[in-house]
Amino acid sequence: MGGARRVLVGVTGGIAAYKVPPLVRLLRKSGCEVKVVLTAAAKPLVGAEALRVLSGNPVHTDDNPARYDMDHIRLSEWASVYLICPATANTIAKMAAGIADNLLTALTLSIPEEKIIVAPAMNRVMWANKATLTNVGVLTSRGVTVLPVGEGELACGVRGPGRMIEIDEIAKRVVELMDKIDRNDGVSAVDIDANTATFKGKTVLISSGPTEEPIDPVRVITNKSSGKMGAALAKAALATGARVTVVSGPASEPLPSGVEVVRVKTAAEMAAAMGERFASADVCVMAAAVSDYRPATPFHSKIHRSEKENITLELTPNPDILAALGAVKTPKQILVGFSLESGDDVDRAEAKMRKKGCDMMVFNRADTAVGGSDTVMTLLFADGGREAFPKMSKTAAAELILGKALKRVAAKVA
Ligand SMILES: Cc1cc2nc3c(=O)[nH]c(=O)nc-3n(C[C@H](O)[C@H](O)[C@H](O)COP(=O)(O)O)c2cc1C
Repeated sequence: MGGARRVLVGVTGGIAAYKVPPLVRLLRKSGCEVKVVLTAAAKPLVGAEALRVLSGNPVHTDDNPARYDMDHIRLSEWASVYLICPATANTIAKMAAGIADNLLTALTLSIPEEKIIVAPAMNRVMWANKATLTNVGVLTSRGVTVLPVGEGELACGVRGPGRMIEIDEIAKRVVELMDKIDRNDGVSAVDIDANTATFKGKTVLISSGPTEEPIDPVRVITNKSSGKMGAALAKAALATGARVTVVSGPASEPLPSGVEVVRVKTAAEMAAAMGERFASADVCVMAAAVSDYRPATPFHSKIHRSEKENITLELTPNPDILAALGAVKTPKQILVGFSLESGDDVDRAEAKMRKKGCDMMVFNRADTAVGGSDTVMTLLFADGGREAFPKMSKTAAAELILGKALKRVAAKVA
């Protein structure tokens, strides 16, 4: 399915550059067209002539500044996917900072993040360096796919994490990314841009991640929410020019810089934080997976194992945050809820939307949404209608949800 499969491979100055020629062969064998860009530091580490023959295309370098401008426009338009492989600590840092001082990095600024896939390769000390880890986090939060590193003997002789993963795995991940981009084509193109003006100066409040309810000082009741949907919503909201606040439970997914983040743990803390900020929000999206119950009386000290006795934990209901916000919502505000159900019970989600005073409800099936990067959703609208969507990335889903909420804000302003 989908359009042409054109992989632009950016090679930086890591010793693993010698693995790129066989990778180019693999990509060609799997039906991809390939073009290659080398940094100056990569040139002594890999044969440009081998890359030219194997890719069937000229290899692009910084040698000819006259062609440089043309190349970075032409190649960025050509590429379905931009694979940076191996990616040095240096190039990863430049990408995180938006530096474009050579053809390879200029291309990273000219190609959308969702099309960029990075295969890091470096020694374990460079990989463990806080600057590198922060830079990788920055790229990931912007939507770049950063592949994991492998463990094993590194070129410098020591063992540890940092080596580039195997080339067949990289080829597989590149093809998967192209499949994902193909699937999302047409559904991710939400008309956010057309309506951007309506969100400038508006405030979007998002709840995200799981909550944690203490059982004793070291144990909690929580759930599998990753915070990926909340982070994607925050990114989509930022792109509209809105002021964005995220009230987040303990989730590992990094949030984009530029949002105000309020960290909470329990449902009660989340209820308080959302309650304080709701009045000044134009749109509120409750994407957090809030624990419905909490232990009625948490133990003050750690529970110790007893061979004989069972322990009974009495649970008491948590505040229903969505219902509380729905109850105080003004006609100008848009409230979006999430309804995660084990089966296909869309009617239950519809009833929930009406009961809690939401304008929109996002219905997900638990087996298609929790933890992963993709989701299958049905959107329900209090002003009428339901729309079911095929499987798509949470990034595309977040843009869709924001796009629909935005239309409703615009309608209320008009
Ligand atoms: C033989 C050799 C091997 C290198 N291997 C790596 C590596 O695996 N990973 C890395 O991050 N840097 C490595 N470096 C350092 C980079 O080449 C250096 O940081 C360079 O400035 C990177 O430039 P570039 O990112 O523009 O390609 C290596 C350097 C040499 C001389």
